[in-house]
Amino acid sequence: MAHSFYNDDIVQTVKEHADIVEVVGDYVSLKRMGVNYKGLCPFHSEKTPSFTVNPARGSFHCFGCGEGGDVLAFIMRFHTMGFPEALKQLADRYDIALPEKPRSPKEQEQAKKREEIYKINEDAVKLYHDFLLTDPAAAPARRYLKDRGIDAAVIDEFQLGFAPESWDFLFNKFQHFPLKAVEQAGLIVPNNRGGYYDRFRNRVLFPIFSSVGKSLGFGGRSLGDQQPKYLNSPESPVYNKSKILFGLFQNKDAIRKQKKCLLVEGNFDLLALVARGIKHVGAPLGTALTRQHVKIIKGFAQEAIILFDGDQAGVKAALRAVPLFLSEQLSAKVVVLPEKHDPDTYISEFGREKFEKVIEAAVPLPEFVFERLLSVHGMTLAGKAAMVQELKPIIDAIGDNHLERTLFVSHFGQKLGLTDEQMLKGLPTAPPIKSIVREPEKKEVKARPAMPLTKIEAHLLRFLIINPEYVQKFIEAGLQYSIEGDSGRIIFKHLVTVSEAGGSKGPEYILELAVGPERSFISKCLIDFPEMSEAETEDEATEKILWLKENSLKSMMRQLTAQINQAQQENNNDLLMQLLAQKNKLRDG
Ligand code: UTP
Ligand code: MN
Repeated sequence: MAHSFYNDDIVQTVKEHADIVEVVGDYVSLKRMGVNYKGLCPFHSEKTPSFTVNPARGSFHCFGCGEGGDVLAFIMRFHTMGFPEALKQLADRYDIALPEKPRSPKEQEQAKKREEIYKINEDAVKLYHDFLLTDPAAAPARRYLKDRGIDAAVIDEFQLGFAPESWDFLFNKFQHFPLKAVEQAGLIVPNNRGGYYDRFRNRVLFPIFSSVGKSLGFGGRSLGDQQPKYLNSPESPVYNKSKILFGLFQNKDAIRKQKKCLLVEGNFDLLALVARGIKHVGAPLGTALTRQHVKIIKGFAQEAIILFDGDQAGVKAALRAVPLFLSEQLSAKVVVLPEKHDPDTYISEFGREKFEKVIEAAVPLPEFVFERLLSVHGMTLAGKAAMVQELKPIIDAIGDNHLERTLFVSHFGQKLGLTDEQMLKGLPTAPPIKSIVREPEKKEVKARPAMPLTKIEAHLLRFLIINPEYVQKFIEAGLQYSIEGDSGRIIFKHLVTVSEAGGSKGPEYILELAVGPERSFISKCLIDFPEMSEAETEDEATEKILWLKENSLKSMMRQLTAQINQAQQENNNDLLMQLLAQKNKLRDG
């Protein structure tokens, strides 16, 4: 869970003091049933109680809707609030002092500077907004917005504005501010005569707010075909494009409620959706999606749905986004709109219902990438080699995050029937490749649901969730060969994190890490799993480790045999020899 400032100790302290039965009991009437408590679920409507709280493990789970988590998760979900807010609420209730952030004089100075820029921006938002609403000179802008389907309610909610055709409109009105600060805010630009001129002229303005409503900057669109189409505020002490999503401030509640965030590219795309009642939308500000964006979205939603315009293949952007989403453990899907459409034109032409249909057909991001690669290169060995080569820059870009790389490599390796080593080193037959990034092929992409847990996976993972001290031993026995699905791998990754924390946190720590269906599975395990003695646990672990060893050997053999067959069919002798040697080594080892 995202909490950058509060350290784990304080979070742990709050959780230890907070009695989950007492906290949940404020909102749900709970009855004791054996070791658990039961009540009517506050997250969906039901007549018979399936909402369960386990005080010993500090967790809750609803068998009806699958919601689950620890006491902090309950507060966050119940009040739709973020982690720091929930932590503060519980800390206040149990009289635990949260540490104040210490500040150096330099930090205090910077904070003052930022406050000044916020204030300047805030006044500019008002100035331009009032001008748009009331000034006769803004009539063309009002007409422009009306023509584009943006009504008065949206103009008001998003505080849209208009900067008139003037070099000194804002400059004259902002004389009471230090001009250096107005310049830093990006609203005025120095000219070569020692003076200043207004940055935004004859443009509709989209104020950019932080998630709590601070004014950070503007995007400005020309009314016609004047170039550049968009002029934006420069980066400033308060404005960093890679950390902000346009519309998040206005739409965050809807995003929380839907647990989904649609990602569109353009400002008008976002407004067009909002104008038609679709509020769970955010837009990166003309930049590629960054890790920070993904982290932000994860604070509000369990899934991102990326909408690509129809006139771009989207593959390059999608490829780059895969490791971000994989490593942040946020589920992502992709929608490609029909050719020549962006979300704005699509919903304007076809309406909300059709648009929602398109969204429902979204494809999981890694599947999307894989299908695209496959449609260009094919599943021959040469094709696979080419795909490995396409994936290589992404793997390299993951950097030295070992787990992240493992996750990515094994995800695609599995699909290509290649070992991790082959994924990393490439196949011997790579011909010069025709890059998909340069030449996308238009093909219908089939939706494929993310792979749920198999029985075997559920069995193994359930055991490890309760007994994470065995994670390392299971990995040594080849656990990864028995975990094939997406959900399984995600839980596997969480287990590794838990195991690396060295048992300092208790079994419910894993709940902090998980979201979506995985979290639901985990909370169910924590509630359901029978208590076992140490000896019983040890016996079961030994049995499972033996099974894992056998199974990993079998699946490595199977993989190699399949590759050997394919190499034979394709008369690829170099590879054949290499694979046969590998197989012998495996058999003898
Ligand atoms: P688009 O060109 O798709 O813009 O760029 P749009 O929102 O659909 O604009 P309309 O419909 O033609 O009015 C997507 C986003 O990229 C950024 C803006 O944030 C824009 O919303 N952008 C685009 C720029 O920053 N500068 C540009 O010159 C163009
Ligand atoms: Mn557009």
